[in-house]
Amino acid sequence: MDKLIVEKSGPLSGTVTISGSKNAALPILMACILPTGRIELQNVPRLADIRTSCKLLNILGCNTSFEGNTVVIECGQLNPHAPYELVKTMRASVLCLGPLLAVLGEARVSMPGGCAIGARPVDIHLTGLEQLGATFELEEGYIIGRTDGLKGAHIVMRFPSVGATEHLIMAAAMAEGETVIENAAREPEVADLANFLNACGARIEGQGTSVIRIEGVNGLRGTTYRVMSDRIEAGTFMMAAPLTGGELLLEHCPLPELDAVAVKLREMGVCIEEVAGGVRVACGDDLVGVDVETMPYPGFPTDMQAQITTLMCSAKGLSMVEENIFENRFMHVMELNRMGADIKVKGHTAIIKGMRKLVGAPVMASDLRASASLVLAGLVAEGKTEVQRIYHLDRGYEKMEDKLTAVGARITRVRA
Ligand code: UD1
Repeated sequence: MDKLIVEKSGPLSGTVTISGSKNAALPILMACILPTGRIELQNVPRLADIRTSCKLLNILGCNTSFEGNTVVIECGQLNPHAPYELVKTMRASVLCLGPLLAVLGEARVSMPGGCAIGARPVDIHLTGLEQLGATFELEEGYIIGRTDGLKGAHIVMRFPSVGATEHLIMAAAMAEGETVIENAAREPEVADLANFLNACGARIEGQGTSVIRIEGVNGLRGTTYRVMSDRIEAGTFMMAAPLTGGELLLEHCPLPELDAVAVKLREMGVCIEEVAGGVRVACGDDLVGVDVETMPYPGFPTDMQAQITTLMCSAKGLSMVEENIFENRFMHVMELNRMGADIKVKGHTAIIKGMRKLVGAPVMASDLRASASLVLAGLVAEGKTEVQRIYHLDRGYEKMEDKLTAVGARITRVRA
């Protein structure tokens, strides 16, 4: 397994171009099952999870080809079986269930795996799809779904799950009649998916708000679409600059979608300003501790929680992080403490004592965003930090080490 050796680096300086959003591209790829004809997706990050999605699309009967950051997809005769070998590596692949039901009336999809951050059930997905007229059975780890035709429904979600909202939008796009989703997730990636489907001929309104209305259409057609920028990658670099006392210009940084993060970083003393060509991030005075609560969008994203925890280790005073979205998402804390951090976890709250001198150590990445927080910690820790199990990082960050190296970080990949 590859690992990264991160050495204490000076202030980062230069320009970083933010890639296309993984979390927007994944559901959009699954939505490509719905239209007929050629689809061209631009600004798709080249990541392991994207390759897995393309492999899954191939197995389901679609042709996919990659050129640079553009993927061309064209689906032929579809096959309803999504095998365990692929779905287990990536939770988002469960999103093929709804589109397969919409087009074929049947689907056989393995129960998902994914990051080790809590139980992560799919009950909200399945309950919503049932309301649209699907029935499900569980057989040997597979979800077997059937329908005589999906029909619009009024769905009130018990929690604004991102994946479930995306799943229901896809299934309802070609259902008969109108669907209303209440308590829908408002994440920008949900809106990006709806915008893509609208470009294919769907009639979806209210994306980005908590009530989404979908008027089902008979068919969708291929289109050309540019995937939004990755707000989590952008947010990670926004933290790398002040952490190292440096200054970065972030190109294609979706600042409006990072509002909750920018508010907290400014409170910590970070300078963030829109300038010609992007967003400039620099360290202001000394960093000071803050309190952060993760919430559904537009609240502070759970996907930035681990990275800001690393930044808090360098800030003056106490900080607090409350994780409200996932159970078991503090696995980076143990590793940060092994590097000299002083973080105590009680239930779903972490208390961080700042101004700690971190020291390099061999550490193990447990999930995608935890890996990013350990790489960040390595940039300011004395000596060498060896980040193991970086396949998690490769799932979610396009060329992270190249981008960091280009702005002055000392990182090398050791190939297994
Ligand atoms: C997506 C993102 C992930 C991000 C998360 C929250 C992708 C590929 N992943 O994940 O990076 O951290 O949103 O912003 O876009 N839940 C249920 N039942 C369900 C579905 C979810 O109980 O049927 C619970 C989950 O266990 C979790 C919470 O709801 O505790 C949030 O999950 P959800 O919003 O669905 O996240 P994902 O779509 O899996």
